[in-house]
Amino acid sequence: MDSKKYKVEINSAKNLVELSKLEIKYLGRNGLINELLSKIKDIPNEEKREYGQKVNELKTEIKKYIEIRKLVVGKEKSDVFFDKTMPGKAYPKGSLHIVSLAIEEITKIFEKIGFIRVSYPEVDWEYGAFESLNMPANHPARDDVETSFIDAPAHQKLGKMVLTPHTSNGQNREMKRVGKPPIRMINISKCYRPNWDATHTPMFHQFEGLCVDKDITIANLKGTLDYFAEKYFGQGTKTRLRPHHFQFTEPSFEVDISCNVCGGPSARSLDASSLRMTPTDVGVSTKKCKVCKSGWLELGGTGMVHPNVLKEGGIDSEKYSGWAFGFGIERVIMMKYRLDDIRNYYGGDIRFLEQF
Ligand code: FA5
Repeated sequence: MDSKKYKVEINSAKNLVELSKLEIKYLGRNGLINELLSKIKDIPNEEKREYGQKVNELKTEIKKYIEIRKLVVGKEKSDVFFDKTMPGKAYPKGSLHIVSLAIEEITKIFEKIGFIRVSYPEVDWEYGAFESLNMPANHPARDDVETSFIDAPAHQKLGKMVLTPHTSNGQNREMKRVGKPPIRMINISKCYRPNWDATHTPMFHQFEGLCVDKDITIANLKGTLDYFAEKYFGQGTKTRLRPHHFQFTEPSFEVDISCNVCGGPSARSLDASSLRMTPTDVGVSTKKCKVCKSGWLELGGTGMVHPNVLKEGGIDSEKYSGWAFGFGIERVIMMKYRLDDIRNYYGGDIRFLEQF
């Protein structure tokens, strides 16, 4: 056999497929080595031994060449054809969290009517969270059953360090930041309270509206709440104010929205086509709604800013008036999509989160 020829052939094999073809050609059952061995019968007896030895040496050498070449082509190139022009694999994309989506939506709704989005500290002093809001030292909300205190040295003037229990801590800061009204703030931030059940989590989000200017009245407040309710919950959603008490507003109210499952107490006067689901869709009758019971769902707290709070923020309460509200983000999402447990938001179960 021409020794040069097999060396050239093996060394020029470009891939493992070509090499295995050569392996069959030289070392296979019907290959050239076996063909040479089969010719031994025609060799004179005294030369048979030497002939056999040479064929075996040749066989070992071919095997060695093939093994070495396998290592070379295996490293250089893959046998699998790779088309570099093919588009890449599309991996599933994540999405924004249900709370982030609501924050974006709420921000846009208020920005449209001139409110400026701010985010004030989650870790604050007692002054920001309580004192500046007309809440005296003996107020029950300042008890450690209601508020989480940080184990750190107290500030001489500002008091102990707390995880803020509400976004109302932004009121005094915003008044001082803006200085002279008009003020139109939408403060969205994390809040903390030691609660844990289907409607309470220890960490949650609130959005706080603050509007201070000349001649601001409850009528402006009601108009803004109605605007928000319609934009966020859907056309036809109404709001109502119920007397309540907050230390930092006077008068104070709780805000309710009309239930969009049964259409609220005045369902007949609302446009039925604007409701997201008809009462029969969710198996309730207009008279006895299982979601709201009374036709109204509680949204959060509001009221006219207390004169002491305006004064503490450096604003002349004789010249200016204002209103504020504070609602829970997790809670408005719950009301909008009729979810029954806000702990699911933070459970990390992708099957729940990818629905939004
Ligand atoms: C307040 O926090 C007042 N600062 C609201 C306010 C602002 C009144 C400005 C007047 C003027 P309240 O404690 O009711 O109020 O909380 C408001 C909302 O926060 C609740 O209606 C609820 O939606 C939400 N919330 C309160 N605690 C939790 C919690 N642990 N988990 C989830 N949401 C909560």
